[in-house]
Amino acid sequence: MTTLAAPVRNARYLTIDTVRENIVGIDAQVPLLDGTTRPYVNFDNAASTPALRPVLDKVNEFMTWYSSVHRGSGFKSQIATEAYEAAHAIALRFVGADPATHTAIFGKNSTEALNKLANRFPFQPGDVVLTTLMEHHSNDLPWRKVAHVEHVLPDASGALDEAHFDRLLERYAGRVKLVAVTGASNVTGYINPIHRIAEKAHAAGAQILVDVAQLAPHRAVDMRPLDDPGHLDYVVLSAHKMYAPFGTGALIGRRDTFLQGDPDMVGGGVVEIVTVDSVSWTGLPDREEAGSPNVVGAVAMAQAMLCLEAIGMGALAEHEAVLTARLLERLGRIPRVRVFGITDPARAREKVGVVPFIVEGMSHYLVAAILSAEGGIGVRNGCFCAHPYLLHLLGVDEQQAASYQQEIRNGVKAHLPGLVRASFGCYNNEAEVDWFAEMLERIVRGDYRGRYIQDPASGAYWPEGFAPRLETYFHLG
Ligand SMILES: Cc1ncc(COP(=O)(O)O)c(C=O)c1O
Repeated sequence: MTTLAAPVRNARYLTIDTVRENIVGIDAQVPLLDGTTRPYVNFDNAASTPALRPVLDKVNEFMTWYSSVHRGSGFKSQIATEAYEAAHAIALRFVGADPATHTAIFGKNSTEALNKLANRFPFQPGDVVLTTLMEHHSNDLPWRKVAHVEHVLPDASGALDEAHFDRLLERYAGRVKLVAVTGASNVTGYINPIHRIAEKAHAAGAQILVDVAQLAPHRAVDMRPLDDPGHLDYVVLSAHKMYAPFGTGALIGRRDTFLQGDPDMVGGGVVEIVTVDSVSWTGLPDREEAGSPNVVGAVAMAQAMLCLEAIGMGALAEHEAVLTARLLERLGRIPRVRVFGITDPARAREKVGVVPFIVEGMSHYLVAAILSAEGGIGVRNGCFCAHPYLLHLLGVDEQQAASYQQEIRNGVKAHLPGLVRASFGCYNNEAEVDWFAEMLERIVRGDYRGRYIQDPASGAYWPEGFAPRLETYFHLG
């Protein structure tokens, strides 16, 4: 049994060396098919990270003082209001935004933040949004509802083709009002040259939104002052990808955009005064945060940002690069394993710690199921809410894509193409990488014990005769 050091309760003392023992649930044992248990290995951090202990502690501490914000006169309301406002200030600082020019608008996640910007950006008929084929659906579908969307293609390895970006910017000169690009891909981990793209966007008269949902947990984000040609006009991020899974996300963007027009959602909290036939909106960010806000989530997100700052984004990036290089090196030696995107361990620093792969001749659903049932390892498999990018990476042509669509309409997902994705958080360690690689070696050798049955409707495989009673681990009530 490992002895853990006393948990660090204050964000300021957190370091890359103490972060692991400060992850809630790090020692949780999970059942395996052979009847044993082992500590869970979470390699699905690109989807959601576990909570940091100082975040959970801060939430618990705050609950004593939790109360309504803005509208209450009581002492607890004063404390809650101050904490909520401090959370906005911390979020702005975390991404290098100037409160004089930018505002932090809290919502429930990046998806909501992107939809809000799509609703609030002053598009005119004919305006173009230049996005890319490597986006999460959340940074693609909202734009399709409000503008003409053009997609910059990735190159064969999945990296952004900047020459294609330049051509599209030129082809739609004068019409491109917004460039919407991811900071880092949730599929391949590629990091985009966001400030260079920003310079080009601004020179073309456009603004830029960077989806930093995957970048912010791994690299420092700096929006820079508005008079810097490489500045970022808007960013969105999700707290559940940053060790604060309490239902908050943020849109941080230019105040001038949100001061024009009407809020997209209206109701309580967004007005100074309402009469039967007139409304006077209040100031930012309140006018864009209709209804009672998630104050607890905001406190948690801000505390997570303080934790990441304490760890140091440089130390964190270096630690994750070591893990990524180790995994790439191990996977490179396993026959039939094909890694997508960057494969060279020496280039691990060029991306965030996301490693997508397939085992040739084996369903991605099956690989993920064995890793879970026999290795206690959680990964994600499938298309990661980035279908166009996956089709590109896998070389699926339009005809094949149409036949998959038809199968889905017929209720069958069993044959859908996809990848397995291992993604790191700053608390993962080399022993976990080694265990993962060992499990994968066994899977490729056919050295696994279960007999796995596929559910055609979902595509998922389940090991025959293995059905742990989940309610013995957690149940409500
Ligand atoms: C790059 C990227 N953008 C946006 C999102 C959407 O985030 P959320 O589900 O928190 O809205 C994700 C989620 O995986 C993502 O990876």
